[in-house]
Amino acid sequence: MSDGRRVIGAEHVEEARARGRLVIEVLPNDIVTALASETAERLGIRLVDGPIERPAVARTDGATSLRRVLYRRSPKWGAPTPVTTRNARRLTKLALIGAGGVGGNIGHLAANANIAEEIALIDIAPGLAESIALDLNHSAGITRSGTRAIGGTDLGLVSGADIVVVTAGRARTPGMSRADLIDINRRVIHASAEAIRTQAPNAIVIVVTNPLDEMTVEMLRATGFPRERVLGMAGTLDSSRFRNALAMAAGVTPADVEAITLGSHGDEMAPIVSQARIKGRPLDIFLSPDKIEACVRDAITGGGQVVALRKTGSATLAPAHASLELIDHIRGARTGPVPVSVKLEGEYGIDGVVLGVPCHLGKGGLVEVEELKLTDQELAALKAAAEAIRSRLGI
Ligand code: 2OP
Repeated sequence: MSDGRRVIGAEHVEEARARGRLVIEVLPNDIVTALASETAERLGIRLVDGPIERPAVARTDGATSLRRVLYRRSPKWGAPTPVTTRNARRLTKLALIGAGGVGGNIGHLAANANIAEEIALIDIAPGLAESIALDLNHSAGITRSGTRAIGGTDLGLVSGADIVVVTAGRARTPGMSRADLIDINRRVIHASAEAIRTQAPNAIVIVVTNPLDEMTVEMLRATGFPRERVLGMAGTLDSSRFRNALAMAAGVTPADVEAITLGSHGDEMAPIVSQARIKGRPLDIFLSPDKIEACVRDAITGGGQVVALRKTGSATLAPAHASLELIDHIRGARTGPVPVSVKLEGEYGIDGVVLGVPCHLGKGGLVEVEELKLTDQELAALKAAAEAIRSRLGI
């Protein structure tokens, strides 16, 4: 076209297919014809909004380079990219209860991505939330983000939020399990729930406070919201840790790895080995059983490793990114299944308990739980996690 815009037609899709490509990058000014979209759907090719970020090439030792060359035998393989869409909703208001390490970083990521008109940060510590809000607003002169931040100690600041993320509560210190926090953090959840129920009655709540699965149950009970609108963030974080462990063990970049963890956010976490892939292929092509087991342990103990190093608190950055991933799924910036802690109603043969499972999310929160075909051992691990949560909560 004379104005320099690219037109992506059916013939381009067919050509991409002939070359073995699975993804076509669509740049902001591209025009995609209706026939191209239909053809892509028919041929199983994804049209992904670009520009797609390419993973940096990591510096590696000779053995890793050799492994890379050996594994470059599958020419059709392409690094999976998150499915992003151009129809993402901008939130009117994102409220963050808790402006510590995780809440503050969520605020930073969300403001930078300009995903809401307003972000309200709330924290019991006088001045903390206000200072972060001011700091974020000071950054906007550089980032040009249109998001305005406000902060305070009043839970009433959740008023009118479309999404509320609750990170408030005590974090672990070395030697503590997440379950040790149940009694302390239950009170925080109930106070938050009361404000959300009365001031933001249509909000979707994302619980991050530990112990995650138990606190999500408490939030469900205390708000009385349907399960669709009370989600626990853990699976996205644990899956990221699992993918990182696998990538490091195999000497590839995390973008080459697809893997999820399900179950509880604790010792009964269930990293799903049967579905995990490195460069689209099963793990045992790249890693010995011992190495796979070490990666599983690494995912399960990842949060504790940070606590042991930090001594005065737990991880902040990865949990913030993982929370943003859920927000992006809710507002339609990403699609596809994502692990979330939700109350199960018969899925996977489990009823009435909150557990991490793959879910499709949308503007009303949970759209549906996806039931993966798990091995008997993985299914047993999920059921064991459900029983452990039940017994901790006495339900
Ligand atoms: C973690 O796993 C904070 O529970 C969170 O790091």
